[in-house]
Amino acid sequence: MRSLRLATVTLATAALCLPLATGAATAAPPADRKAPPHSHAAPDRLRSAAPEGFFVGTAVAGGGHHLSQDYPDPFTHDKEYRKILARQFGSVSPENQMKWDFIHPERDRYDFGQADAIVRFAERNRQVVRGHTLLWHSQNPEWLEKGDFSAEELRALLREHITTVVGRYAGRIQQWDVANEIFDDQGRLRTQDNIWIRELGPGIVADAFRWAHEADPEAKLFFNDYNVESVNAKSDAYHALVQDLLAQGVPVHGFSVQAHLSTRYGFPGDLEDNLRRFDALGLETAVTELDVRMDLPESGVPTKAQERKQADYYRRVLQACLAVDGCNSFTIWGFTDKYSWVPVFFEGEGFANVMTEDFVRKPAFYALRDTLKEAARKDRGHRRG
Ligand code: G3I
Repeated sequence: MRSLRLATVTLATAALCLPLATGAATAAPPADRKAPPHSHAAPDRLRSAAPEGFFVGTAVAGGGHHLSQDYPDPFTHDKEYRKILARQFGSVSPENQMKWDFIHPERDRYDFGQADAIVRFAERNRQVVRGHTLLWHSQNPEWLEKGDFSAEELRALLREHITTVVGRYAGRIQQWDVANEIFDDQGRLRTQDNIWIRELGPGIVADAFRWAHEADPEAKLFFNDYNVESVNAKSDAYHALVQDLLAQGVPVHGFSVQAHLSTRYGFPGDLEDNLRRFDALGLETAVTELDVRMDLPESGVPTKAQERKQADYYRRVLQACLAVDGCNSFTIWGFTDKYSWVPVFFEGEGFANVMTEDFVRKPAFYALRDTLKEAARKDRGHRRG
């Protein structure tokens, strides 16, 4: 059984001093309340191959880029997709369906339809849910970004949104990405493109965590970002910020790396070390959006060597997470190329997921499955010994 990390450390050093907005600081450690079903009878499934207490998840396709594609909403209409989603995964993350533009399309109107459906699906299939996301610079509705709000109104809007959305699913969401992508690649806070930080100052980040914690004291609250797999300026900025917030009793429980990787670039070999330094602060860590894209040959069909390289990247990310005690949540950003965001954003690149468009398993799928099995075997041996 992997240990579940409680975020109750006290840290003295405040490497990055942020002015804090007001709000009660409570850091009560929420308990994880669900375990993935653990059946050794179905070891071919990622969820049951995993060690006990380790959640293997996927994004649930819908919203975002899917709206402009020529297929109907995948989660609602694709039966084969839903079957695999239920069978293979112990955790699900709405890809877009809990983002501001989707769930709060007008100032006085929330649209919970899809998010509710995903949470119900997860409960029926004994899956946990990762909530994504509450404070971000992107995918905010136009009424918010272009609205003429005073600072006081904006603050009230964010508080109401967090209280409403987190409160609605209280006790049903395991982890929330409270703050998403708040630093740029140089490790500078996004003081221009993030409406909340720009208009309300950096202290709003702490308040977002406090409000989320008030609305669901059990949920684990995360910082989530891309290009933070390695020790670099951006992950350094999170490391400093988290220490500062913890020292002030802000309920931050986790740090997660998205891991949108490309075989064009080298593998972030210091991923495990990086996760460990956040673990050492008493945080949970997680991999939340793993995919591994590649440059496609003209034929559109990758070579065997490309497939092997991709499988190797998937395996090494999983191994890094498994090696860190408090890294118990490992999510891939979709499991089939059929619905991937990658070709929509990166011309000439694709094949980023563990199954083809026809749901055929790639070497990357087997790399994950075998690595999970091996970890579960060692885990059981360790407990017996
Ligand atoms: O804003 C326009 C809107 O005005 C227009 O009506 C609509 C019509 O299709 O498009 C809207 O923009 C879309 C946006 O989602 C908002 O719905 C983009 O075209 C679409 O490409 C975008 O895609 C999502 C993307 O986040 C946006 O950043 C993807 O589906 C989603 O997979 C992706 O997920 C993010 C994670 O949340 C955070 N980490 C990175 C990851 C990959 O980018």
